[in-house]
Amino acid sequence: MRMYDLIYTKKMGGELTPEQIAFWVKGAADGSIPDEQSASLLMATCWRGMTTAETLALTLAMRDSGKRLDLSAVPGVKVDKHSTGGVGDKTTLILGPIVAACGVPCPMFSGRGLGHTGGTVDKFAAIPGLRVELSEAEFLRSLAETGFANSAQTADIAPADRKLYALRDITATVESIPLITASIMSKKLAGGADALVLDVKCGSSAFMKTQEEAHTLAQSMVDVGRAHGMRIRALVTRMDAPLGWAIGNALEVMESVEILRGEHGDSELAQMSFRLAAEMLVLGGAAKDLAAAEALVAASIAKGTALETLRRFVALNGGDARALDDFSRLPQAGQVVQVRADRTGHVAAMDGRALGILAMELGAGRKNQGDVLDLGVGLRVRTRVGARIEAGEPLFDVHAKTGAAVDPAAFLATLRISDGPVASGPWLLEQLG
Ligand code: URA
Repeated sequence: MRMYDLIYTKKMGGELTPEQIAFWVKGAADGSIPDEQSASLLMATCWRGMTTAETLALTLAMRDSGKRLDLSAVPGVKVDKHSTGGVGDKTTLILGPIVAACGVPCPMFSGRGLGHTGGTVDKFAAIPGLRVELSEAEFLRSLAETGFANSAQTADIAPADRKLYALRDITATVESIPLITASIMSKKLAGGADALVLDVKCGSSAFMKTQEEAHTLAQSMVDVGRAHGMRIRALVTRMDAPLGWAIGNALEVMESVEILRGEHGDSELAQMSFRLAAEMLVLGGAAKDLAAAEALVAASIAKGTALETLRRFVALNGGDARALDDFSRLPQAGQVVQVRADRTGHVAAMDGRALGILAMELGAGRKNQGDVLDLGVGLRVRTRVGARIEAGEPLFDVHAKTGAAVDPAAFLATLRISDGPVASGPWLLEQLG
């Protein structure tokens, strides 16, 4: 087989066979196919797309490029969640403990942040002592003993994805529905869960800008999951602003714990986390329908069992669980600078991406892979889209390093203020599967 022929076929709009796709993925991972040929095929795929059969074959080949975790030692239907992410998305920290507390094992692998978006691994790393790179034995023990396991993705899960993703990143070929589908689903399938809830975000602060794109991606991932025997459901959710009040690692832990304590129960973040948890409980067989699942979620908050599950997960994996009750034990910023409104009006829009970049520049995120984070810095967003604001009202608390210069104008520029009232739309746009 010649890689040249695969590139030519795709360039002309043809369909690759599963054998050809397996040949490519194996060669990309072991280095026998040069990067420039893989990059050409990636670009041709971006333009020409892939059929469902091709996307399935690519997912399978990437999954099989590494190890597949065997979770069968832990009884029950294991349910994972994947979010396409966005600024302030800390739903994993909230729903993982809830789902586990309701009796459904929840195994999750997470990523580190790069650029304006944060990573769940970095958020967990803000809890002092917590190991975020668990060995397979530690991961299984955590799942068996607390019902919840979260770890950084290990190098042996879908290594072909790591190779191809790095190439996509430098060749402007990330935005392709089949490539994103295969990248995400190969890792999810290798992670060993039986069921998966997807949260596909769309809007100005998300990867997918329009609902149409988000729908197509969600449907593509549902199709691939189903074809591989997974129970799967997807929600398309709106993300036009940061999710919740916190951006920055320790601050996001605080906000998550507050929700698990039963505070901010009607915030969009809480509603979204509770709904995703409920979907997971239905897939996991703990509830017959969504209403019953939502009652279980509410009880886990009211009785404190979800927060207790997070404490147990943290303590088992080396973390200081006291930090969940005493936030002064979490990393703190050197200074907090308040940014106040320079005019009266209504918040018509908030640029989540710009706020994510500002938080990154404070040290909460990575400009380059390998950058060391300051886990205490970040932002408290004190307003939301649709809110009326008065001149002089505090809009952001900027948690910065000691001595760092904070330019209020940069933060105010992330808001569009209108004179008249503005309605913000519903967060749940669509359900699939
Ligand atoms: N996240 C992934 O893991 N892969 C993609 O291709 C895009 C987002």
